[in-house]
Amino acid sequence: MNSAFDAIPRYTPPYPERPPRRLPALRALLQFGQDALKPFEVGTFSRPFTRRRILGRELVILNHPEWVREAFVKRHEVLQRKTPQMRQALEPLLGDGLFVSDGPLWKARRALVSPLVSGRHLDRFLPIMLETAREWRALWRQHPADRPIDVLNEMGTLTAEIISRAIFGQRAGREQTDQIVRNFAHYQRQIEQTAVAEMLNLPGWIPRFHGRGIRRPIQRIHAVVDHIIDAQLKPSGQASAAPDGCPVGAMIDQLFTKAEGPDASLDRRAVRNEAIVLFMAGHETTANTLAWAFFLLSQAPWARAALARELERIPPERELAVTDLDALIYTRAVIEETLRLYPPVPILGRTATADTEIGGERIRQGSLVLVVPWLLHRNPELWERPDDFLPERFLPGAERPSKYQYAPFSVGPRVCPGLAFGLNEAVLCLAVLARAFDWELAPGAKVFPSTRLTLRPGDRLPMLLRERANP
Ligand code: HEM
Repeated sequence: MNSAFDAIPRYTPPYPERPPRRLPALRALLQFGQDALKPFEVGTFSRPFTRRRILGRELVILNHPEWVREAFVKRHEVLQRKTPQMRQALEPLLGDGLFVSDGPLWKARRALVSPLVSGRHLDRFLPIMLETAREWRALWRQHPADRPIDVLNEMGTLTAEIISRAIFGQRAGREQTDQIVRNFAHYQRQIEQTAVAEMLNLPGWIPRFHGRGIRRPIQRIHAVVDHIIDAQLKPSGQASAAPDGCPVGAMIDQLFTKAEGPDASLDRRAVRNEAIVLFMAGHETTANTLAWAFFLLSQAPWARAALARELERIPPERELAVTDLDALIYTRAVIEETLRLYPPVPILGRTATADTEIGGERIRQGSLVLVVPWLLHRNPELWERPDDFLPERFLPGAERPSKYQYAPFSVGPRVCPGLAFGLNEAVLCLAVLARAFDWELAPGAKVFPSTRLTLRPGDRLPMLLRERANP
């Protein structure tokens, strides 16, 4: 069959080998412990509905747009609770923050936090993103061309700095953002075993290997965020009037004045939990997306050339401006395709809090229900050349996938509130940096997907940068 994409060269970026058949439960669990994407056998990519029992717990995987809609929109009330694995993994860091809460608490916090990052404030966010990306460009210009730079870490510090300025109204600085990035990576490495303990349904009193290993990264992340919150508070411990252009000032104000109980320390904890959610959810995902985009482009010269042609249409004597955003069509397609191939949150897991039904199939209370963008985005029944890097599928004129087929930001009431923020941030940062540099993978560097809490291109992404003659 002829396809509109036949003329486009083929590049299939790396993915974990897929077992040809379903693995026995224990092996699947062990593989899951090594890397959450490893146990999915070939058949799960095209099967719309998978049900299996693992050590007494029922697991359901929904891999069809209609079931995704039904689960996350229609059955939101009974399927809004995160999995015990996710809660165990994140609670030590985020407490009861929005990302892991459910029920009335989630509803109240969502109403408070979501407006802070909403796309309605893009007019204020976009110039901050541009300015910060230009500062990273200036730093990269000072970097020796023959010494690799770790693009994964660079994207982490860049996006953490953007969150700090856009949401918290403060410059964090390289040292602080580096603390956040390194300690969150460390934290993710430490919690791997916890996931397996949870999947094995071990009783709560059995230690989860957390202990000392995660204490230090948590302390360091908390220290940075506390510093930021303190700067928002008056010496009396009361929220200052929300400084102009600082949405979190407003949140702190609201939490302090509308908090449920008289216990001020609880209010302080609640503020910190939500601040950490914003910091973590808001920077690591975009950083991974950008790092993957740099990697994919380094392997696909035709895509790099198409990107360069688009960026060269901006007159070289002027800076890229917010008003150029609409014209960055190919740049956006690269980001969207990156999010398809390597969704930063590759598994969206929920616990059924009551008996329910999806697609006519009965789901019992306590079952784990998974929507797995990693499978959905590579389902051969839904996508042409599903494992290939093909930004062209997101260009105007190509058929747009439905939001239940392409869900890197999830869907329904728990959809990512930072969708517009993250997407536009990735487009602008890529454009600013790709206008100024060519890049290639450092010799000997191996890149392979690694999934802990998020899907990352390993622990480092060493690249060699060369300044472009005519940006
Ligand atoms: C490319 C960038 C991003 C991606 C791919 C992404 C993806 C996601 C996904 C999939 C979820 C839902 C997780 C689940 O239901 O299990 C989520 C939730 C969330 N995201 Fe994002 N995100 C991105 C950027 C951002 C940014 C920039 C912010 C803030 C500025 C943000 C804030 C949040 C928050 C607060 C939640 C929790 C929402 C809730 O549970 O109600 N995200 N994100």
